[in-house]
Amino acid sequence: MVKICCIGAGYVGGPTMAVIAFKCPSVEVAVVDISVPRITAWNSDKLPIYEPGLDEVVKKCRGKNLFFSNEIEKHVAAADIVFVSVNTPTKTSGLGAGKAADLTYWESAARMIADVSKSSKIVVEKSTVPVKTAEAIEKILTHNSKGIEFHVLSNPEFLAEGTAITDLFNPDRVLIGGREENAGGLKAIQTLKDIYVQWVPQERIICTNLWSAELSKLAANAFLAQRISSVNSISALCEATGANVTQVSSAVGKDLRIGSKFLNASVGFGGSCFQKDILNLVYICECNGLPEVANYWKQVIKINDYQKNRFVNRLVSSMFNTISGKKIGILGFSFKKDTGDTRETPAIDVCKGLLNDKAQLVIYDPQVPEAQIFKDLSTPKFDWDQLGSTIQITEDAVAQSVKVVHNAYEATKDAHAICILTEWDEFKSLDYQKIYNNMPKPAYMFDGRNVVDVAKLRQIGFIVYSIGKPL
Ligand code: NAD
Ligand code: UGA
Repeated sequence: MVKICCIGAGYVGGPTMAVIAFKCPSVEVAVVDISVPRITAWNSDKLPIYEPGLDEVVKKCRGKNLFFSNEIEKHVAAADIVFVSVNTPTKTSGLGAGKAADLTYWESAARMIADVSKSSKIVVEKSTVPVKTAEAIEKILTHNSKGIEFHVLSNPEFLAEGTAITDLFNPDRVLIGGREENAGGLKAIQTLKDIYVQWVPQERIICTNLWSAELSKLAANAFLAQRISSVNSISALCEATGANVTQVSSAVGKDLRIGSKFLNASVGFGGSCFQKDILNLVYICECNGLPEVANYWKQVIKINDYQKNRFVNRLVSSMFNTISGKKIGILGFSFKKDTGDTRETPAIDVCKGLLNDKAQLVIYDPQVPEAQIFKDLSTPKFDWDQLGSTIQITEDAVAQSVKVVHNAYEATKDAHAICILTEWDEFKSLDYQKIYNNMPKPAYMFDGRNVVDVAKLRQIGFIVYSIGKPL
C-alpha cells in the first residue's frame, strides 16, 4: 500500500488529500498539522472549513484510508510520498517585505522531513512557491542526508475555494514538474502520475521540468487576476459612458480566443492567493532584473485597490458626501460565495473605508463567524506598496461601530444604504420590497457583485449603484 503524508491540513491539504483517499482506496493518506484545533476539527462532525461536498468525501474515507493527526514526525517517517501544503504568505518584514513569499513554514517542514526520514521519499511541493524553490528544498533535504534518496516534485494546486471538490474530481489539468533529466526524477514523476491517473484522464496530466511547473502556477493566478482587473477597469469606463459592463464582457467573451469565464466585474478580487502570488511574481521579476515586467503585473493589484476605493468613494459621494453616523447594511463578508474564508476579502477594505468615514455597519454573512469579522476589521493591514495609504481602524472603533447579525433582513432594517460585497445566492432572492419598506428614504443599494435586478429595485424605489452599470 502506497503511503502518503500531507503536511498542512488547510484549505488545500484537507480537500486535496480527502479526494486522493476517496479516489484511490489502495492508498493510505495521513494529513498532519501543527495546529491541534484544526486537526481536532478535521476529526469531528464540524470540519474546519466550509466547502460544498467536502463533508461527504471525508465521511466516506476517514478512519479507513484517510487520517488526520498531529503526530507529524511519525507519519512523515512512514510515508513514501510527502506532500507539503503549508501556507506561504507574503513577507511582512526584512528583505523583500511586502512582496516576497515567506518560506519559513516550508523550510521548517523540509528540515523536519530530512531529520525524521529513514527511507527514500518523494517530496511534493503542493503549496504555491517562488520559481526555483525546489532547488533550495533539495539542498535542505540532501544536506544531512544519511544516504537516503529524496526526489522533489512540483505539483501545484489549481482548485478554487467554494468549488474545491468538483475542481479536484474533474481538474482542467494536473501539473507535475520534476527532474526529467535523470532516471530517479522520471520514476518519481511516474509514481505521482500513477496516483492521479486513477481518476484523471491521461491527457490532462502534464509533466514538465520543475521550474516550468513552479512558474506555471504563479502565471496562472496572475492571468486569472489580470482578467478581473481588466474587466474592472472597463467597468469604470462603462459607468462614465453609459455602457453596461455585463453586455460588454459578454460581447467580448464570445470571442473564443478570449473566452467568457472570469470576466465578472466586481468590487475587487480577494482570497488568500491572487495578491500574494502576483506580489511574489513581481518580486521574482525585480530580482531577475526585469522591472518592466514587474511593473506590468503590479498594475493588476493597483487596479484592484482602485476598484475597492472607487466603490467606497461612490457610496460616500452619492450619500451627500457624508455617512457619519449613518447605518450601512453589509451583505456578505467572505471573499466569494460558498466559502467562509475571509483572507484578503474586498469586504475588509470596503468596510474599513466606510468606518473611516464614520459609518455604523451592520454585517451579515451566511458563513463567516462574528469573531472573524471583528478580527479582520481591527487587524492592521500590511501596506504592500508602502505609500502609507492603507486605512487602519482601532479595535475600539470597530467595537463601537460594527454589529454582526444573523440574517439579511436584520442587517438592512433601518439602514440608509445596503452594500452587497459577496455574491451569495440568497441575496438574489431576498424580498427587496420588504427591505425597502424598512429603510429610511432615500434608500440606497450599492451592489458590488452585480447580484440584484437593477430595474426591479429602481421600480421599488431604491437608488441603485451596480458596478459598471448605467447610473
Ligand atoms: P492554510 O493556511 O489554510 O493551511 C496551511 C496549514 O499548514 C495550516 O493549517 C498550518 O497550521 C499548517 N502548517 C504550517 N507550517 C506547518 C508545519 N511546519 N508543520 C505542519 N503544519 C504546518 O493554507 P492553504 O490555503 O491551504 O494554502 C496552502 C498553500 O496552497 C499556499 O501556498 C497557497 O498559496 C496554496 N494554494 C491555496 C489555494 C486555496 O484555495 N486556498 C489554492 C491553491 C493553492
Ligand atoms: C483562485 C484560482 O481560481 C484557483 O485556480 C487557484 O488555485 C487559487 O486562486 C489559489 O491559488 O489560491 P480562489 O481564490 O479560491 O481561486 O477563487 P476564485 O474563484 O479565483 O476567486 C478569486 C476572487 O476573484 C474572488 O474574490 C472572486 O469573487 C473574484 N472574481 C472571480 C471576480 O471578481 N470576478 C470573476 O469573474 C471571477
